[in-house]
Amino acid sequence: MGNAKVLELHGLTKHFGGVRAVDGVDLTVASGEILGLIGPNGSGKSTIVNLICGLFPLTAGRVLFGGADISELPPHTRVALGITRTFQNIRLFGQLTVWQNLWVAQNSGEQRKQNFLPRWLGGSKGARAEIDRMLEFFDLGHKRDELAGNLAFGEQRRLEFARALAARPALLLLDEPAAGMNAEEIEQLDSRIRKMRQNGVTVLLIEHHMELVMSVADRIAVLNFGQKIAEGTASAVQSNPVVRDAYLGTTTGA
Ligand SMILES: Nc1ncnc2c1ncn2[C@@H]1O[C@H](COP(=O)(O)OP(=O)(O)O)[C@@H](O)[C@H]1O
Ligand SMILES: [Mg+2]
Repeated sequence: MGNAKVLELHGLTKHFGGVRAVDGVDLTVASGEILGLIGPNGSGKSTIVNLICGLFPLTAGRVLFGGADISELPPHTRVALGITRTFQNIRLFGQLTVWQNLWVAQNSGEQRKQNFLPRWLGGSKGARAEIDRMLEFFDLGHKRDELAGNLAFGEQRRLEFARALAARPALLLLDEPAAGMNAEEIEQLDSRIRKMRQNGVTVLLIEHHMELVMSVADRIAVLNFGQKIAEGTASAVQSNPVVRDAYLGTTTGA
């Protein structure tokens, strides 16, 4: 199980007009792994997440999930299969409560769960209890009836995270989850990512905050101009001169 490939990108390519946003990227994420994906602004990180989620068609290449080619599947089918994400810019249902946001998300992952947990067996009580646990885990229990649009920024980030988890993902894609967070919030994020992995979630973590990604990721891949320029452990990547030139040298201390 530890070696099973959850996600495989083969020659992943996306051109927007003349812009080679993603240019022939090969990448594998193993079951239970936390893979960090870093690179300068505009290097194609968010586009890779969008391609894995099926937001727009590939120019070339393939996306495999659990060994199956999902390159042509629509986004909602991929969610139902167990791929969820957070957005670089928060996207919540602002006019729904915190609890309702999680309820909607949970039902988007329902298709998959139904296969082995019939609704009449687990019942809505089980689903509700799961939402309660999620609220607890993200320290949002006291905000359950608040409209999502009225939450403070840090709370909205936590809710977005909770929502991605509520759909019971096998693979969670996090696009710069630490953006705008203070040191204490980043520390909490670090421990939550580790706990999720303990619970069997595989994570692709895009992050600018080097301390977080170096601490939490098992392996790191580095992008530059849409191409993968390095891949390895945190220390190998940090001491790689190509990476230092392209990226780390310019952001140290930022
Ligand atoms: N929907 C789009 N339409 C046109 N160009 C895009 C679109 N999305 C991203 N790009 C371009 O693709 C490149 C990679 O962007 P992105 O994946 O957002 O980079 P990153 O997340 O690494 O900062 C950039 O040049 C960006 O302007
Ligand atoms: Mg981005």
